[in-house]
Amino acid sequence: MASAKTHLTFFFLLLPLLTTTTATVAAAAAALIGKPTAQINSNSVLVALLDSRYTELSELVEKALLLQTLEQAVSVHNITIFAPRNEALERDLDPEFKLFLLEPRNLRSLQRLLLHHIVPTRIGGSRWPNETTRHNTLSEHPLHLSNSESVKLVGSAKLVREDDVVRNDGIIHGIGRLLIPKSVQQEFNTRRSLRAILAVKPEGAPEVDPRTNRLKKPAPPVRPGSDPVLPIYSAMAPGPSLAPAPAPGPGGPHHHFDGESQVKDFIQTLLQYGGYNEMADILVNLTNLATEMGKLVSEGYVLTVLAPNDEAMAKLTTDQLAEPGAPEKIMYYHIVPEYQTEESMYNAVRRFGKIQYDTLHVPHKVVAQEADGSVKFGDGEETAYLFDPDIYIDGRISVQGIDGVLFPSSPVDRSLKMTESAKTIDHVKLVAKARRGKLLEVACRVLVSIGQDSKFTKCHQI
Ligand SMILES: *[C@@H]1O[C@H](CO)[C@@H](O)[C@H](O)[C@H]1NC(C)=O
Ligand SMILES: *[C@@H]1O[C@H](CO)[C@@H](O)[C@H](O)[C@H]1NC(C)=O
Ligand SMILES: *[C@@H]1O[C@H](CO)[C@@H](O)[C@H](O)[C@H]1NC(C)=O
Repeated sequence: MASAKTHLTFFFLLLPLLTTTTATVAAAAAALIGKPTAQINSNSVLVALLDSRYTELSELVEKALLLQTLEQAVSVHNITIFAPRNEALERDLDPEFKLFLLEPRNLRSLQRLLLHHIVPTRIGGSRWPNETTRHNTLSEHPLHLSNSESVKLVGSAKLVREDDVVRNDGIIHGIGRLLIPKSVQQEFNTRRSLRAILAVKPEGAPEVDPRTNRLKKPAPPVRPGSDPVLPIYSAMAPGPSLAPAPAPGPGGPHHHFDGESQVKDFIQTLLQYGGYNEMADILVNLTNLATEMGKLVSEGYVLTVLAPNDEAMAKLTTDQLAEPGAPEKIMYYHIVPEYQTEESMYNAVRRFGKIQYDTLHVPHKVVAQEADGSVKFGDGEETAYLFDPDIYIDGRISVQGIDGVLFPSSPVDRSLKMTESAKTIDHVKLVAKARRGKLLEVACRVLVSIGQDSKFTKCHQI
């Protein structure tokens, strides 16, 4: 902080001493450091930032060696800085994430994170868009500005101090929380799971008798991070008639991977991403799938979740949710026991036309094919496009946003499908209101009516 100020101040002190034009000063400075230099003005929003209440942010900007980049930016255009309150960077930030940002080898991540808070145009409070609009930032990720019921939002952060600092070359608004670009979150997740693997000492893995699908006795040593011995279906918890009765799991968890944190991360990412609240809610609150997935990932299994977005979820009918275990079945059908990214799936459908992926809803498979330059899932009446690719990818869990809810096309599961008479949940109303929990409410109502509600603790809280 102190040295950052010195850096700029030193430059201003120089200015009056030189009886040349600013252009020459800039040229001289440029010659000195071998780069075109900005003509920074003491009135600049950058100088104001270093002097502002946002001390945590300006300290990070300095640590990230970004001052020169920003000086150049303000020399050619106005900037708008969305400055997180100090608390957002102190108290509210995962200490592990902060450590990650401050590690010198993660400098690029820190820079990208900070530049994500800066828009290369001037957006004053009075010119805040009424509609949700997308703005480029100085990072490669765009930001969405929105305005809902007179609450101004930057991504998921509330604007808490509008026009806090106004200068000729830019504006600083205070915001309530840090904006974390997807790529930085992913780098953190990856780094953490790698560390988790390295931090684990090798331990014995169980050996399975293929005839009984049960454990043989002594366990040979296994490399940490190696693939699990049993097929994923054997490791899954017994579900409501999902799979043939599973064999006992492979003798206790090995925890080569911190599956629970990874699942927590991806749910957090889904919530932050926006538009996938229903899915997150089902995983966490309506079923115990999140816990289940955490266990599987800890055991070394990999998963790809095809996450229907909220619009798709809102079209689910009460009939579709009525059968016991229906929410689980629907969700299991959207989980593929493989690690697939947008790229791998797209390449596969491009090369092979149609691809079948296993799902956790055995024995049903989900078909994927290329359509309109994207990947289309399902071959029955309900199909869904890959809509938000790679929402979360950390090497073990992949989350791909899709724009429909998929159902197995075999006649066995027709009962799950939409019937003509089924009443659709009022879509428009759902979108307009706070949507979270609506699906839960409907599902619980259905469950109460068939006496199944006691399985879901959340139902009693509604
Ligand atoms: C920044 O915005 C101000 C006010 O709109 C304008 O006068 C000025 O020319 C802009 N500066 C640059 C470098 O575009
Ligand atoms: C937003 O709406 C208000 C009132 O309807 C209007 O005065 C204002 O100009 C609009 N702002 C923008 C950026 O369109
Ligand atoms: C689960 O329910 C609680 C309380 O109803 C809610 O605050 C939380 O956001 C829900 N979780 C998700 C992931 O939606």
